[in-house]
Order: sequence, then structure tokens, then C-alpha cells
Amino acid sequence: MRKFPNNFLWGAATSSYQVEGGNGNCDWWQWEKSAGKTMSGAACRHYEFYEQDFDIAKSLNHNAHRFSIEWSRIEPREGRFSKKELQHYLNVLLALKKRNIEPVVTLHHFTNPIWFAKSGGWEDQRSIERYLRYCNFVVPALAKYVRYWITINEPTIFISHAYLLGVWPPQKKSLFKAAYVEEHLALAHIKAYHLIHKIYKELSNCKPSVSIAQNVMAFVPCKRNLRNRLAAYLRAKVYNIGFLERISMGNFLKRLPLDFIGINYYSRQVVALKQLGKGNLAMDVCEKKHHRIAKNSLGWDIYPKGLYEVLLSLKKYNLPIMITENGICTKDDSQRWKYIHDHLKYIHRAIKKGVKITGYLYWSLMDNFEWDKGFVPRFGIVGIDYKTYKRIIRKSAKKFAEVCRTNILK
Ligand code: BGC
Repeated sequence: MRKFPNNFLWGAATSSYQVEGGNGNCDWWQWEKSAGKTMSGAACRHYEFYEQDFDIAKSLNHNAHRFSIEWSRIEPREGRFSKKELQHYLNVLLALKKRNIEPVVTLHHFTNPIWFAKSGGWEDQRSIERYLRYCNFVVPALAKYVRYWITINEPTIFISHAYLLGVWPPQKKSLFKAAYVEEHLALAHIKAYHLIHKIYKELSNCKPSVSIAQNVMAFVPCKRNLRNRLAAYLRAKVYNIGFLERISMGNFLKRLPLDFIGINYYSRQVVALKQLGKGNLAMDVCEKKHHRIAKNSLGWDIYPKGLYEVLLSLKKYNLPIMITENGICTKDDSQRWKYIHDHLKYIHRAIKKGVKITGYLYWSLMDNFEWDKGFVPRFGIVGIDYKTYKRIIRKSAKKFAEVCRTNILK
């Protein structure tokens, strides 16, 4: 029997664009059309059905819920802020509060308003002030109901997919541009961190808890030779903690501008270098099929122990950690429960080793629009019938609900 700390946050996560539907002022919407991709369209119609979805979360004993605010709704044209959309998110927060569910609110989850993307996006230095202007509109209005803020979701994934691999809009492949984007995202976070604290102070609110949601992975050397181990070590440094280190730079005491560390963990990478070159160090993975390991429906390795290893490696920062995403896409719901169970087992083990973990948010509350992969991958503990938009509560959701209710993992 494994007991979790008192006041542990249990719940699930979503992001606006992936569930709301009808986000026609967003760069992704335009990109789906121009690149001939699956359209997100009505997504899960969560924009209309959020009350019903929160009833489900409540019935599953969730006491926390992560969602994001869609910047392109709030500011559909540059400098024109929509009070109506702001009111919508206020209603969303009130709906959570009414059910005693603690909101964890993300301000940027991969998507941008079209006008922002068109006038330079995150490559442009003005991105920082534009993002802060948006935060300055949203945060004071919602502050009363929010303690946990995520400024930016997975900066490293955003940079790599949109500016290095070129598989997400704006589909650039440039180290040079990626470096600019990283710089701007880092500054945007640092400034937003201080801005949110300032707003809370001015409003005499109790202190907010602000973080990013950092994607992390386990990097496992295939053969444990020196070069594979070196590459695994370097990749963990760049991919898992590179952005964290970046935002502490220039800070005299090297104190991180974070009140907790939000982490998103899904999988591992098996490192096998073909030769010793810069590109090989960064990219080579084992292509042989000799690692017998279960996979999700996108082919990602399922490796719960990796979460434990990553959690221990973050202990040095001496900050509370929240698992802001962890999940599996699969057609086999019993595999989903096993995934959740095994990851929770390792989270509990990390807590026993002294890592301060404050919550676990499964990705995702419901099946949703999985970016360039469309609607095929099914991550939800709640299924969606995309013809009727009916919500189908899966068995894994009920098993997880028992953990949320008892605070105990059997
Ligand atoms: C993202 C989610 C995404 C999930 C599964 C995370 O990287 O934050 O938006 O759906 O992974 O791929």
C-alpha cells in the first residue's frame, strides 16, 4: 500500500486548442488548412461542454485540473482584447471552483494568434512584450481564482518541432532561428514570472505558484559504452534541463524564476551512436528491435522507471515538482491503467527518496486533437465519440478515481 502526501493534487490536463473547438483565429487552424492536415474543427466541443466535462472530473474524484487559455480568443486582433472571451475563462474557473477543483492554468500551450504568427511569431523580439501584454490582460482578471500558473508549455518541444524539425507551424528548420525563439521564450517566462508575482502583490492576493511545464525524457544508453553514455548525459542536459538552466542565467544567485517545477513525462529514448560526430551525439537512437518493451499507439517506449530517474535528477533544484502531464495513447484501456499504475508507483518511490512532489495530472482528461497526428491517438481516460460528442468514461478513469479518492495506490 502506497500513501501519497496530504493535499496531493490529483487530476487531469487538457489544452484549449486540443479540446475546445472552433479556434479559427489561431495559427494552427490556418496551418491545418494550408498544409492539408486534419482540421481540429470542433475538437471535443469542450468550449460548450466544459460544465459537463467538469462534472465528470468531479465524479472521478479529481481535486485539480489543468487547462489552457487560448491567446487567439483573448486577443484575436493585435491590441484588441475580448472581454467576452475573458468572461468565458472566468466562467470556466468558477465552474471548477464550484466543484472544489484546483485550477492549474497554462497561458501558452503551443498555439499563437494568427496576427502574432504573421508578424514574426516568437522569432521577433516584440514577441516578449506582446506576450506580456496578453498576460497583463488575463492574469489580474483571473487572479482571484488561480494559484497555479504555467507560463509556457514545453518550450523545448515547441522550439524543436516548429523551428528545428519543421513539423509544426511555422515549419522552419534553422538553428539560428531556434536560438532566437529560445531566447525570447526564456525572457517571456522570466518577465511573466515577475509580472504575475507583482500583480498578486498589488491585489494583496496570497502568493501565486508559477512554473513552466517542462518536457522531460529518460535517455538510456543502448550499449553502455562511453560514447553512448556521454550522449545520453548530454541529451538529458539539453532536453530536460537546458531551458531551466537558461532561465536561471544572468540571475546573480542562480535562483530559478520558478515556484515549482512542472514536468511532462511520457517516454524514453534509447541512445546508440553510429559514430562520434556532433549530429550523432544529438540525434542517433537505437534502430534495432532488440529492446523488448511495451509501446503506446504512436510507438513510444513505455518506461515508468525513467520518470523516477528524472525526478531524482531534479531534486538538486530543491523545488516542489508537479507532474503536469503523464499519459498514454492506446486502444487498449487496460494498458492505460497499467501505465498510470506503474508511473504512480515510481512517483511514490521518488517521494520516499525525498523528492517533494505535489500533484499528478494525467494527460488527458479526454481524447483530443493530437496536433499533427489528428484525432487518431487516444490519450483520454474519458473517450470521445466524435460523431455524437458523447463522453465515455473508461475503466482506467474509474481505477484512477479510486487513487484520487483514497490518496493510496494499491
Ligand atoms: C503536450 C500535449 C500533447 C501530449 C501528447 C505533450 O507534449 O503538451 O499537448 O498532446 O504531449 O503528445
